[in-house]
Amino acid sequence: MPTERCGSFSAKFDHNSSVQGKPIARWGHKADGSLRDGRAAGEYMEDTMKGLKWSMAVMTAALLVVGFGSMAFAFHSGGVAQCEGCHSMHSAQSGALLTKSDIGSTCLNCHENAEGDTEPTRYHISTRTQDLDAGNGKAPIQRSPGGDFGWLKMSYTYVTHGDTINEAGASHGHNILAADNGYTEIDGATAPGGTFPSAQLTCTSCHDMHGQYRRFADGTIKTTGLPIANSGSYNDSADPISGSTAVGVFRLLAGKGWTQDGIQFVVDPPAAVVNKNYNKSEDVLQVRDAYGKGMAEWCSTCHPDMHTNSGRLTHPVSQNLASLTATYNSYVKSGDMTGSQLTSFNSLVPYEEDTLNYATLKSIASNNAKQQPGPTVTTSDVMCLSCHRAHASGWPDMLRFEYQSEFMVYNGLYPGIDNAAAGYAMGRTEAETKAAYYDRPVSDFSIYQRVLCNKCHAKD
Ligand code: HEC
Ligand code: HEC
Ligand code: HEC
Ligand code: HEC
Ligand code: HEC
Ligand code: HEC
Repeated sequence: MPTERCGSFSAKFDHNSSVQGKPIARWGHKADGSLRDGRAAGEYMEDTMKGLKWSMAVMTAALLVVGFGSMAFAFHSGGVAQCEGCHSMHSAQSGALLTKSDIGSTCLNCHENAEGDTEPTRYHISTRTQDLDAGNGKAPIQRSPGGDFGWLKMSYTYVTHGDTINEAGASHGHNILAADNGYTEIDGATAPGGTFPSAQLTCTSCHDMHGQYRRFADGTIKTTGLPIANSGSYNDSADPISGSTAVGVFRLLAGKGWTQDGIQFVVDPPAAVVNKNYNKSEDVLQVRDAYGKGMAEWCSTCHPDMHTNSGRLTHPVSQNLASLTATYNSYVKSGDMTGSQLTSFNSLVPYEEDTLNYATLKSIASNNAKQQPGPTVTTSDVMCLSCHRAHASGWPDMLRFEYQSEFMVYNGLYPGIDNAAAGYAMGRTEAETKAAYYDRPVSDFSIYQRVLCNKCHAKD
């Protein structure tokens, strides 16, 4: 049974009478466009879920087997979600009858917490403007693999070698437009190495809001056919069943035929899976996306000339690590090459497994271990997300790690304007630098740690 749908549908349609004493209306918006009780739809839904759990606690054990874990916060469930989560028939705020003033704001209505988060929270991928303060220790809060768009609002000014550097927040990632949430910056005219217009970039440039792309049991991906039973993004997602069900593609990403602002995708969405609790601090454990295949080709839709071999000399992508496999596995930190394949994986430098086999990918995705196995010679390719995140990061060019100065750790400290490594701080406080590394303890690195290109190249 497709349990992921169960939560949202039963919460909305079957359990809408009372939740912990509070009346639950349907989802929807008042005439002024706000939600019925002033909360973002996401929170609305979460409360509905809590109520569902509470009322189900008194139900039969048989009902409980549907599993709260996967029901806890379903909405898209791999396909098209309840229309009214995004559309309003009589009180819309923008074209296509959207609930907010543009597409990005409609998505962030749920994907950014209107009341503010204090720690990484489920499917949230943005931090509110008022919770951010660059240079004063208030960094974006979410730690999802794609990254928190809030980094786009973290601009830094600092002096290096006598020059004043103005590092615009806009350089930290994909500047999506979402006016209600304060994302209005347009960075450059087009995608570097391509023609996609920066002024049009939003969530649906990359994600199919209706989630029509679906993966069948034989691995093919189409927009129509068997019904979508659940998300295909997770290592515990139910598999598609031949002749019976399909599953959503990884992260509802756009596939062949998706056309936005003059650019058409000609490749399938990348193959990958991740653990359902992916938005977590990496202070103790690592969250490992199992990337399979196709990411570089997918990114190249909008960046055809960037890091491919057409037109310019660029870093290889979709290329086997080959002899660098041994380097990756031995490299622990600057000056320490004593690592081994069994424990060498680092989520700051991931790679693709070069496979479309979801059973393999599911066995690799994890969120509950610090030590995880590294690459083997036969598989494992370098790809765009080996160095970049997909949404935004704490560093220029949306890189996973610092690349502008020689030391990412200096004298045992993450550089901060508030500590003894201030010379390498690039305007950040120590807390902001640490946040950019998803809260990893500085002891994970050498006391004089150089940039993480060295994980594959060991030039340090
Ligand atoms: C996750 C948010 C979301 C959900 C859920 C959603 N839509 Fe949409 N829909 C959008 C967005 C965003 C657009 C506008 C796209 C644009 O302007 O480029 C849109 C556009 C449309 C359009 C006009 C363009 C087209 O593709 O024909 C129709 C019709 C539509 N949606 C119907 C539906 C129906 C019916 C449902 C429920 C079964 C639904 N939508 C659920 C976000 C959503
Ligand atoms: C009404 C609240 C709501 C709105 C509006 C909404 N989302 Fe979501 N989204 C969720 C929830 C809840 C989840 C986690 C559960 C799920 O995937 O069903 C989620 C998950 C996702 C995922 C991961 C899904 C997977 O299967 O891997 C993506 C990608 C996503 N949303 C994109 C979008 C985009 C793009 C928009 C706007 C077009 C949007 N969402 C609008 C609530 C919402
Ligand atoms: C340039 C393409 C692109 C844009 C624009 C984009 N996304 Fe994503 N998104 C991705 C990719 C690729 C992933 C998978 C990242 C990974 O697993 O490393 C992803 C992952 C996600 C996830 C899962 C959580 C995570 O961080 O991995 C959610 C939720 C999501 N996107 C929602 C959104 C919303 C909402 C917007 C607009 C505010 C948006 N995305 C804009 C490409 C994009
Ligand atoms: C739908 C088109 C589209 C797709 C797909 C896309 N990008 Fe982009 N990308 C853009 C645009 C437009 C810009 C320039 C605007 C900006 O930087 O905000 C950009 C900018 C960038 C930048 C520079 C960021 C900065 O802060 O200056 C990087 C790095 C990047 N993309 C990497 C990627 C990677 C990696 C992927 C695949 C996960 C990807 N892009 C997929 C459209 C796209
Ligand atoms: C080995 C690491 C690495 C890989 C792999 C990689 N990049 Fe980059 N990328 C960088 C670095 C470092 C920069 C910034 C400095 C530079 O351009 O030398 C950058 C810059 C960019 C920029 C901004 C360029 C500009 O002119 O503003 C874009 C866009 C980009 N990369 C896209 C991609 C895409 C798309 C892929 C995959 C096809 C990819 N990168 C793969 C490391 C990488
Ligand atoms: C995930 C592993 C990985 C990471 C991280 C990585 N590289 Fe590479 N790099 C490769 C592979 C694979 C090759 C191609 C094989 C080779 O040259 O040995 C390569 C080749 C190169 C080359 C030689 C290119 C040529 O045409 O001869 C340079 C220079 C380089 N990388 C620089 C960098 C820099 C700078 C960074 C950090 C921004 C970086 N690499 C990060 C895997 C990686």
